[in-house]
Amino acid sequence: MTINSPDAPHATLRLAADANASRKAGAILAGGGLVAFPTETVYGLGADATDAKAIARLYATKGRPLFNPLIAHVDTVEKALALGKFSQQARRLAEAFWPGPLTLVVPAAPDCPVCELARAGLPSLAIRVPDHPVARAVLAAAGKPIAAPSANRSGHVSPTNPAHVLADLDGLLDALVEAGPTQIGVESTIVACLDEEVRLLRPGGVPREALARVLGHPLSAPRTDGTKPLAPGRLASHYAPRHPVRLDATAVNPGEACLAFGTPLPPGADPALTLNLSESGSLVEAAANLYRHLRALDALPVTGIAAMGIPDAALGEAIRDRLLRAAAPRETAQENFT
Ligand code: TXA
Ligand code: MG
Repeated sequence: MTINSPDAPHATLRLAADANASRKAGAILAGGGLVAFPTETVYGLGADATDAKAIARLYATKGRPLFNPLIAHVDTVEKALALGKFSQQARRLAEAFWPGPLTLVVPAAPDCPVCELARAGLPSLAIRVPDHPVARAVLAAAGKPIAAPSANRSGHVSPTNPAHVLADLDGLLDALVEAGPTQIGVESTIVACLDEEVRLLRPGGVPREALARVLGHPLSAPRTDGTKPLAPGRLASHYAPRHPVRLDATAVNPGEACLAFGTPLPPGADPALTLNLSESGSLVEAAANLYRHLRALDALPVTGIAAMGIPDAALGEAIRDRLLRAAAPRETAQENFT
């Protein structure tokens, strides 16, 4: 199999997920290639985290700033624990939530094989063991930690099905393993365990309440030194649709599309321009539908998207966080990150 060079786009190899596809995808990754594959959260764009050349191509393909580090994915908890230094609390979270939609940021192990570029030069490392049979089969076949940001162009909405991946990256990848829509629909929760505090850096697939239950106490807010957020990719404008997004809308203006949650629809909502995250008001269903509905509404000839309010609990925190970023002003294009 030949590997694409970044400046010579060709048709992406599409593989229907089976044992053979996972082996092939693993071999392409181990050879320095770029492979998109499903996880339980969103589709990831994988590259060998130990290979600086492959990682450089990954950053270039996404259009991602080099100072924004990547998450290293492995298929077993044992391999994950070997990559970093885990405090007692970090170990407790790893045991409770891996495999699953949790990323732990810990000090990198002294012999950590993940290259400097993937870590953006940081002494810490973000690690995740995804809970998806295809992801784990691909990771097992690759036999190395795989850096996998969401498989979208930097600043775009994350992909929750293969068509979203192709819309952003067709021709720029060596292969895409296709396994239908992802189950959770928002990215992993990121938690830093770098000192005695456990800090929530990004709300995601594991609700804050579930983490607190395992720890026996609430999580600390992210640490900031006044200039930098602790997760380098967490600046305001992100997950950016084309149209302006209006949050916590209680009515829809003429010309606006509506991103609904529950029933009844707000006054002014045109059913032809409305998509409902969950008619029954389920936050799990809403998370799974979020990015697909945002993409679909963004493609309509409307003046903006009125997003109804979402409760700020359980998966609602992650949904609200992504909508807030979708609504943030875009005048600083370099702030569109992962
Ligand atoms: O669900 C997910 O986590 C998906 C799937 C594919 O696994 N991946 C994902 O990766 O969302 P990405 O690159 O789109 O987001 C990773 C985030 C970025 O905001 C980055 O700044 C942060 O993780 N991050 C990575 N390494 C870090 C570190 N050492 N310290 C703090 N934040 C880190
Ligand atoms: Mg991303």
